[in-house]
Amino acid sequence: MTATLNTTTPFPKHLLTGLQYAENNFLDEHARHLHLDKQLLRSRYDLNGKKVLDFGCGMGGMTLWYAKNWDCTVHGVDLDPAHVQVAEFLKEKYGLQNVKFHCQDVLEKPLTDKYDFIVLNDVVEHIPMPVLEKIILQLRGSLAEGGVIFLSFPPWRSPYASHVTSAVGLPWCQFLPQKMLYRMIEKKNSHITGAIESDLLSAYKGLNHLTFNRLENLTSKAGLKTRWRKSHCLLNRVPAFKNVNFRVFPLDFLVTKEFVEMSA
Ligand SMILES: C[S@@+](CC[C@H](N)C(=O)[O-])C[C@H]1O[C@@H](n2cnc3c(N)ncnc32)[C@H](O)[C@@H]1O
Repeated sequence: MTATLNTTTPFPKHLLTGLQYAENNFLDEHARHLHLDKQLLRSRYDLNGKKVLDFGCGMGGMTLWYAKNWDCTVHGVDLDPAHVQVAEFLKEKYGLQNVKFHCQDVLEKPLTDKYDFIVLNDVVEHIPMPVLEKIILQLRGSLAEGGVIFLSFPPWRSPYASHVTSAVGLPWCQFLPQKMLYRMIEKKNSHITGAIESDLLSAYKGLNHLTFNRLENLTSKAGLKTRWRKSHCLLNRVPAFKNVNFRVFPLDFLVTKEFVEMSA
């Protein structure tokens, strides 16, 4: 694969896999793990004229998707410089003017703007709980009047919450004895794009085992209320159960993703 902005700007080879992944997330409406997010976002929100913050924007696939699909301004913020480098490259490649990216630790350099729509897509499960608590408080303060926060994440009981299911070959492998699981991941360990978490094992160790209740406990302390929630479950594939939320034990183990809308 060749990736150049122009003949004088070569793209670093070690970021190419990430670039391909992010570009696919941007362009492919049916990208596997984002298909539902995109469908929900389209059906629930009109982002035209809105100021959007994509917190934990990663390599920018979704950030660019908002910027392309709505007449809005989008600010992507992420802690990982390698991710932001990929995002900046894609922004240039597609010539989108209504999006900006910043590599920023908001606990050191707080956000200053207010936003109508703050989205955290597959982010909250990656941040240590005490840090997440402070970030949520700050995001609450960054909401414009009438603004909402939209979060999506795989809850800890999800078959894929370990983020290493495809490497290890076992859904729910997060519940194995941890030493055994570490050895299994090490055997299949591979590089992932990132300056902070750069392999599967470090990505697994960085998870905070988030459940909806743990998240709500923390968001309610920040003065946020849950306005809407969809727990997407494997059983929703059966047409008759399409809109059912299966949150009762043991069916909650089949929930693959929580989608939550919060506001002040
Ligand atoms: C799984 S990625 C999701 C990226 C993107 N939202 C997406 O859907 O493609 C999680 C992202 O959260 C970022 N992240 C973790 N802790 C963060 C923090 N304290 N501040 C900002 N971003 C953070 C990581 O660097 C990573 O890019």
